[in-house]
Amino acid sequence: MNNIAAIILAAGEGTRMKSSIPKVLHHICGKPIIKYLVDTMRSIGIQNIIVVVGHKEGLVKKELQGVRWVKQAECLGTADAALKTKKFLVADDKIDSVLISYGDTPLLTPKTLKNIIDRHTSSKSGCTLLTARLKNPTGYGRVLRSGNDKIMKIVEELDAVIYEKVIEEINVGMYCFDKKALFEALELITPNNRKREYYLTDTIEILAKLNTPIDSVSIDDPEEFLGINTREDLIQAEQVVRRRVSNSIMQRGVTVVDPNNTYIDEDVEIEKDTTIYPYTFIEKGVKIGQNCNIGPFARLRSSTIVDDNVSIGNFVEIVRSHIGRDTRVNHQCYIGDTIIGKRVNIGAGTIVANYDGKSKYKTIIEDNAFIGSGSILIAPVKVGKGAVTGAGSVVTKNKNVPAGKVVAGVPAKILKKTKR
Ligand code: UD1
Ligand code: CA
Repeated sequence: MNNIAAIILAAGEGTRMKSSIPKVLHHICGKPIIKYLVDTMRSIGIQNIIVVVGHKEGLVKKELQGVRWVKQAECLGTADAALKTKKFLVADDKIDSVLISYGDTPLLTPKTLKNIIDRHTSSKSGCTLLTARLKNPTGYGRVLRSGNDKIMKIVEELDAVIYEKVIEEINVGMYCFDKKALFEALELITPNNRKREYYLTDTIEILAKLNTPIDSVSIDDPEEFLGINTREDLIQAEQVVRRRVSNSIMQRGVTVVDPNNTYIDEDVEIEKDTTIYPYTFIEKGVKIGQNCNIGPFARLRSSTIVDDNVSIGNFVEIVRSHIGRDTRVNHQCYIGDTIIGKRVNIGAGTIVANYDGKSKYKTIIEDNAFIGSGSILIAPVKVGKGAVTGAGSVVTKNKNVPAGKVVAGVPAKILKKTKR
């Protein structure tokens, strides 16, 4: 893939989202829209990625590492955006093909990207286009072919006349161009359309008129090329990714009891024989070991690690914490910034008060501790090995519970040596 550079167009505001943040930064299953395409490109070995930014570029740049940036100050159209990369690409002799896609189509799969590149490499055409057939093609550019099936032109919805509007073959919005043909065609584009924009899609007509061969690859699954233009599209994409995530987790031996009502972010790791019950939320970066039961109605937030054989029950929220193996946190608890050892029992309604209104503090609960129902642990605090807190205890900050001791009361005081 060293001879290929990829361009992602993401300078637009995404007006139809009606948002104060750029469209490509909205999240799908915990990950910004634009990052999907970048990750997919990298997964098939494309390293040379240029992102065209404009609207609130600083925000977009913060979300992506390891790509190159080009600024399009004014959104004059997709062709103008692509032309902005010329200074990087024309001088680079190693690059002979350019893959162009739109930052708002995150669901294209690695297989589709590979197909279009492979086809382009073998056919050596000026452009290889990704197309699909839709019974309702509204909103997409239509692909016009001649009588002998040669691609002649793409016409945008707004500019299409009635007989073009009924064409069911649409422009998905991914192209693999011969670099030379691309920049030659881009220079010739004029904003001769209803929106007065420079359309990338006009490269096709220009190349066809120059008798440059144009090839296409088609895909069947409309989910793959869903372009996110509105909030409704965003939620539709969320549902697709959620199903993809559940499927891939289940293929690794995890049971997701009700995938439609379970919300697992994109980069969560869960090991085999763990069961996730409905209405559970698991955020990005969470890692869960084998043989665990999670939920129903559990919320595992960022940077939480759960070891093997752990049970986390209903209405439990855990954030930035480590839960050791064979530990139970079964009913209505909040655990924040806490390291919990092995074989610990966290009683119903336990709260770790990790925030004093200004800062957050850590709590440590060591192996075999038993936290009685309704305990409040005010951080920073440590509960030693095998120690017990009585039901309703309030363990105040820095009043560490020594190993093996029992505390109770408000504030909690040491009662006697535990026999556990
Ligand atoms: C585009 C295609 C259409 C295709 C559809 C697939 C064109 C002219 N039309 O239409 O044929 O069927 O995608 O989803 O290309 N952008 C810039 N700079 C600009 C304008 C747009 O970077 O000046 C970026 C936007 O941020 C966006 C992407 O290009 O990520 C696509 O732009 P958008 O306006 O959404 O194009 P569509 O109307 O969806
Ligand atoms: Ca779009």
